[in-house]
Amino acid sequence: MQLPNALPIAQGVRLWPQALNPAQQSELLEVVLSTTAQAPFLRPTMPRTGTPFTVTQTNFGTLGWVSDAQGYRYQAHHPVTGQPWPPIPSLLLRLWHAALPDAPDPHCCLVNHYRDGARMGLHQDRDETALDVPVLSISLGADALFRLGGTSRKSPTQSLKLRSGDLLVFGGAARLAFHGIDRILAGSSDLVPGGGRINLTLRRV
Ligand code: SIN
Ligand code: FE2
Repeated sequence: MQLPNALPIAQGVRLWPQALNPAQQSELLEVVLSTTAQAPFLRPTMPRTGTPFTVTQTNFGTLGWVSDAQGYRYQAHHPVTGQPWPPIPSLLLRLWHAALPDAPDPHCCLVNHYRDGARMGLHQDRDETALDVPVLSISLGADALFRLGGTSRKSPTQSLKLRSGDLLVFGGAARLAFHGIDRILAGSSDLVPGGGRINLTLRRV
């Protein structure tokens, strides 16, 4: 898989708009949804408060990211089924190596499912020790307003529209950049059955 030149968004942040064409988006969505049959989506809760997330999540890979009353962490098993997470599908590994030719294989693909109205508060991806390896984020389905800040919560932020088929990498100076999803643009895509958006975040842990 060959990717064209990426658009520079900020230091350490690159975007490949529509890296996947509609047929490739459908193929990837089908692979993702069929793989979730072995690891069903669940609704995580916030540490301490127990507030449910507005997204549902699952993982592929040797390690999955989970959040519950005990905190944020990576673990090898699905918290409900107790089974190991399914392996990261080869199509996703090919996208990872196309975007990040020098990076070793990712351990985790977090799958976020946003229904209309779901969002993700501003946060850093900082539960990994491999902070030298960038994060790859792949968008499928409805458009999303992504907010990107700096490494301090007070840093100025910019808003970026992520569309189905977009690939976004953040690493280097931006590996610990604050980011989140302000909202999903309801009705902007009918790719995901029932509407909404699926985001795939691949990381080395
Ligand atoms: C995340 O930061 O975990 C998700 C970002 C996105 O949905 O684009
Ligand atoms: Fe994140």
